[in-house]
Amino acid sequence: MCGIVGYTGSRQAQEILLQGLARLEYRGYDSAGVALEQAGSIEVVCRKGKVEALAHTLSHFDFQSHCGIGHTRWATHGRPSEANAHPHTSCAGDVAVVHNGIIENFAELKEGLIARGHQFRSETDTEVIAHLVEEALEDPSQPTLLQAVAQATEVLIGSFGLAVLWDQEPGTVVACRRDSPIVVGRDETGSYVASDIIALIEATRDVMILEDNQFAVLTPDSLQCYNQDLEPISVPLTTIDWAIDGAEKGGYPDFMLKEIHEQPRVIRDTLAGRLINGALTIDELEMTPEALNLVDRVYLIACGTSYHAALIAKNLIEAWARIPCEVEVASEFRYRDPIITPTTLVVAISQSGETADTLAALRDARVKGAHVFGITNVVGSPVARESDGVIYTKANKEIAVASTKSFLGQVVSLTLLALLLAQSKGTLTSGQIRLLFKELVDTAEQVETILSREAQVEPAARACKDATSALFIGRGMGAAISQEGALKLKEISYLHAEAYAAGEMKHGPIALIDEGFPVIAIATKSPVYEKVLSNLQEAKARGALIVAIATEGDEEIASYADQVIYIPKVRDALSPITASVPLQLLARAVALQRGCDVDQPRNLAKSVTVE
Ligand code: F6R
Repeated sequence: MCGIVGYTGSRQAQEILLQGLARLEYRGYDSAGVALEQAGSIEVVCRKGKVEALAHTLSHFDFQSHCGIGHTRWATHGRPSEANAHPHTSCAGDVAVVHNGIIENFAELKEGLIARGHQFRSETDTEVIAHLVEEALEDPSQPTLLQAVAQATEVLIGSFGLAVLWDQEPGTVVACRRDSPIVVGRDETGSYVASDIIALIEATRDVMILEDNQFAVLTPDSLQCYNQDLEPISVPLTTIDWAIDGAEKGGYPDFMLKEIHEQPRVIRDTLAGRLINGALTIDELEMTPEALNLVDRVYLIACGTSYHAALIAKNLIEAWARIPCEVEVASEFRYRDPIITPTTLVVAISQSGETADTLAALRDARVKGAHVFGITNVVGSPVARESDGVIYTKANKEIAVASTKSFLGQVVSLTLLALLLAQSKGTLTSGQIRLLFKELVDTAEQVETILSREAQVEPAARACKDATSALFIGRGMGAAISQEGALKLKEISYLHAEAYAAGEMKHGPIALIDEGFPVIAIATKSPVYEKVLSNLQEAKARGALIVAIATEGDEEIASYADQVIYIPKVRDALSPITASVPLQLLARAVALQRGCDVDQPRNLAKSVTVE
């Protein structure tokens, strides 16, 4: 949520900042800005809208700057506008700040600053930081920018990743963090800072990921990190092994389609090396089979799409490992008083690994004594670092805001976890586990088949595109899948969609159905197939336009549905992996037909680092 980039060195800063911001734009895109230091003063240029608009404006200037910071914003405090766009500056304009996170006590700090004569230009929480640094720099002891930033951040409550410039220390950028990611790195031309590794991968593959309350001072020739007491420290290098094409569209019209097409690879990579001599192994979980065997309760905690992956996994954990499993929205879990004992396993699922609610829930669970696993896509992310063990989803960088390949990676990882628990508990035989694992691997090929028939979704998309609302229904696994289908559709096409367990339809939502109302049904062959058909009858009788996701070879379904999207046959337990793919394609097709930007839907950001 919000992207930060900074550079100091021998290259033109503007070019590097714009390039970095374009890479970070998926984190927020309602406004963008840069602060460039030039001949001992700081020039700030901001624009409402996307980075492209900022680049256009900057093309009319001729800045010759080798040091600067930039920001792409997802509004929290203050609406999207030029005045609220970062960087924010001090009264004198000599300090510029970009910020990712939320300052919870900003109102109180602002009041004090105003009383002391500071003048504010924006509605943001961030602006207080620029004024606080300005105040700290006025101290007669003549502090450095690092000391001033450290002093200013001492009074902040909340989360922040920051990069700060001061015109009296030309060529220096100070960065720091608390509960919001900051990475720094160097190449032969200079030093870089960003809120996400992706902004740096063209410059360097070796980055330092700052921990909470650490600082970094960047100059053209050096990069030094400091601890909370401002003592120099060495932060270990993390080498990034993503292919650079993770950040490019690779010939696809949008990132979403590219990422949907990467899913067979994600399945294979996530499963590679997991079955050794007939036994499942996930060493990174760092839990012995004996300890796993003691687990008597599982909580899966997550938000959004990751929560839907958890809903799917609950069915598998309970069916295969026979362990009671609860799924909770992280923002609720963190404020409840769940029953946690030392034999409780809490699994925090987060693509970005930095979702504020999931992270807070994870921390809370650890304090209460649970053993915590993280399932995340981002190496070195807070969820990875703060969990007792971690499974990486191997999706590689996901750029489209709507999660697709990382969702599938989560479902596959959770399926693996369910099998591992069953192995430890002895609730499935090794033969059953090997067979299920093989079928899991085979889903990669089945997803390839679905992708090769991508055009199947087009007629259904045309039929749905002018609707104002849609209902997704399913039973069992289908109920969980339908939740994800509805979310995908609403977030990228702005078509209101709800998901219901099909059996619940008659208890209320059926009242919505009239002539032409789209009902998208997960009607694959499963133990509850006949029940779903009855629910389709009920909807059909009221004029619904029915789109069914059905199993290849099922001819009966055609008499119930107006549109049928066929997918290969898999066992019910694995159906979420295959059935969610046509729903992703359908959502994208509807969104495109409605003229929406599928990669950057309005009001959303890729990672949600605020509560
Ligand atoms: C929807 C989507 C979001 C995220 C949610 C949690 O497509 O991507 O609903 O799933 O914001 O994000 P993570 O998984 O990063 O914790």
